[in-house]
Amino acid sequence: MNKILVTYATMAGSTAEVAQVVGEEIARSGLLVDVLPIGEVSDLASYDGVVVGGPMIMGWHRSALGFLKKHRSTFHRIPLAVFVLAMSLTQTGETSVDGVAVSVDENLPKPPLKAGTLSSRENYARLSNYIRPILRATHPVRPASIGVFGGRMEYGRLKWWAVLFAMLIIQAPAGERRNWPAIRSWAASLCPIFIKEKK
Ligand SMILES: Cc1cc2nc3c(=O)[nH]c(=O)nc-3n(C[C@H](O)[C@H](O)[C@H](O)COP(=O)(O)O)c2cc1C
Repeated sequence: MNKILVTYATMAGSTAEVAQVVGEEIARSGLLVDVLPIGEVSDLASYDGVVVGGPMIMGWHRSALGFLKKHRSTFHRIPLAVFVLAMSLTQTGETSVDGVAVSVDENLPKPPLKAGTLSSRENYARLSNYIRPILRATHPVRPASIGVFGGRMEYGRLKWWAVLFAMLIIQAPAGERRNWPAIRSWAASLCPIFIKEKK
């Protein structure tokens, strides 16, 4: 039976909860699923597919990017899906990045304050800016699917420097923006990829 790994990086825990739900949804189709933090994964030999999740933390979480680079050659053998949590995304109409379709939670993007021009914060929070480093890390393989969803911001859980960055640069209000139906629906869409692509 196909075995799928859902692995994640997190700073304050919200990505871990999303990974659990993604794993639950994949398991509903009869696939075996392990859900593990990236630090507990040593090799991918026993897996037939991998989902890697991470939050935007001044760029996609460094451990998640490092994981993709480290296992890049494995993704020639087994399909890879990636998900990203974010609190700030500029509405630019982008639905793909460098030819790779990206599924974006419809509640997340916000239109720029001034039509036709982007502030530096809005420019930073473009979909392509978030996704390109991920595509570079897996190159020449492309993820079979990428999902971008709202996350959760709880300032009380963070160190002072993280609070400062998130308040000043991201200007993300505290709160819960995880859209569980969108997350579950994206996770369910991965099942055919993992079943079909077994070699
Ligand atoms: C230090 C810091 C930097 C962040 N950087 C970004 C960012 O660049 N873009 C964004 O949309 N969200 C950013 N966020 C919001 C997180 O991606 C969001 O809160 C996410 O749900 C956190 O996941 P975690 O709970 O698994 O750590 C940042 C949050 C923190 C604390």
